[in-house]
Amino acid sequence: MTNITQDRILILDFGSQYSQLIARRVREAGVYSEMYAYDMSIEDIKAFNPKGIILSGGPESVHEEGSPRAPEIVFNLGVPVLGICYGFQTMSEQLGGKVEAGDVHEFGYAEINITHQDALLSKVGDEKNQSQVWMSHGDKVVRLPEGFSVTSSTPSCPYASASDETRKFYGVQFHPEVTHTAKGTELISNFVHIICGCGNAWNSENIIELRIKQLQEQIGDQKVLLGLSGGVDSSVVAALLHRAIGDQLTCVFVDNGLLRLNEGDQVMQMFAENMGIRVIRADAEQRFLTALAGVTDPEAKRKIIGREFIEVFAEEARKLDGVKFLAQGTIYPDVIESAASKQGKAHVIKSHHNVGGLPDDLAFELVEPLRDLFKDEVRKLGVALGIPHHMIYRHPFPGPGLGVRILGEVKKEYADILRLADDIFMQELRASGWYDKTAQAFAVFQPVKSVGVVGDGRRYAWVIALRAVETVDFMTARFAHLPYELVDKISTRIMNEIKDVSRVVYDVSSKPPATIEWE
Ligand code: XMP
Repeated sequence: MTNITQDRILILDFGSQYSQLIARRVREAGVYSEMYAYDMSIEDIKAFNPKGIILSGGPESVHEEGSPRAPEIVFNLGVPVLGICYGFQTMSEQLGGKVEAGDVHEFGYAEINITHQDALLSKVGDEKNQSQVWMSHGDKVVRLPEGFSVTSSTPSCPYASASDETRKFYGVQFHPEVTHTAKGTELISNFVHIICGCGNAWNSENIIELRIKQLQEQIGDQKVLLGLSGGVDSSVVAALLHRAIGDQLTCVFVDNGLLRLNEGDQVMQMFAENMGIRVIRADAEQRFLTALAGVTDPEAKRKIIGREFIEVFAEEARKLDGVKFLAQGTIYPDVIESAASKQGKAHVIKSHHNVGGLPDDLAFELVEPLRDLFKDEVRKLGVALGIPHHMIYRHPFPGPGLGVRILGEVKKEYADILRLADDIFMQELRASGWYDKTAQAFAVFQPVKSVGVVGDGRRYAWVIALRAVETVDFMTARFAHLPYELVDKISTRIMNEIKDVSRVVYDVSSKPPATIEWE
């Protein structure tokens, strides 16, 4: 088997909000890449053995005291280097050029004029040698280092891009990694393929083949336990492990009674029946509802649901003999973010030997086959592994489930009503094509009664709120502007088909100041 991570690109992160996107774009181009903090050690850089290095953008100015610099070895390894925005500025300064503080921050679309087409800008310009890019910078390079030539400019930025083709050093002031840069994908592909000479072995089929081999080596003939939730990450881990080790895998699916309509049955059908995976279903609805009785505070509810989950999972785990490994669906952004928040920088891989929260007597070794993959890569893997598209491209569903979508105290009666309403909402979103146009949508149970009229009678029943949002990062969101006809159809169906609902409202709050969930 070819070594699919042999051609690898190192990304040194100077803290730009777009840094992760660079790694994703490189991988989309079929080349393995990893991102580390800019002050990665010389030994680690050498050990990584990159075919090329990308210096990311960053929020600082090279004129600020103590502002970050690229390790000198980056320019002495003999591999191509691409500096993006701040990365271009520090590269210029470190190699003898000059950077000046700009009086104005240039932010937004710009049109570059390509004056010299090097390998990086191959097929980037149109017939007039122009191309639309996304700029976001204050400082700019005003004198290039020796050996560099300008390759493009804009009216306000004389060195929008430049290169030293002998040493294979390239710099761009704009951001090729964001989709606003029209030919960004081509530019990154030029760098990794034409300039660095990487192949394109990083694709789903090869990743699956590699992962299966690695899992077989790591696990041997031992047994593995996996908490299966039906979400994308744990589903892909289940499918991957099943291919790698077959019956050595046991999954535990905890049905907490706070799932969507028929979800438990669907998970069992998909994994146990269709794929032949050994899945233990722990029906714990009653237990969760008992623990939640009388509790109204959202954070208290979250804690109880989390605690009960661990207890149920641990009980099931204790019933199994000789399990050595616990599999988890950790993905690369979890790894980067948790390292960043702890260390103030990008990426420190730690291996740990237990999962947060499990009791000490259950000391498993971890198996995390998605730990170096982005969500979009995980999804592609899932499709390639035969998991149906609708499961892989589902809206996120929070761990506490309907527990935080029933305001205040959670009761089975409320959960049953909410499940029906949510199901009607989802059916109509899918039928109208709006499911894929929204990032997350769900119904929320309001524990208040409202008067309605049915035929000649009066109805005094519950209120359901509908929530649908558009967002990319879930940090900010705007309420989805669903067509009124669609909202009309959904609300009519909910009130007609569920006798316990007398009123439907649509949530028109954006985040901030509102959150996406109601609790
Ligand atoms: P908010 O409500 O904070 O939600 O705007 C942002 C995203 O996080 C999800 N969310 C949760 N996910 N456990 C989870 O696993 C939770 O307790 C939780 N609370 C919110 C929410 O669904 C949205 O996608």
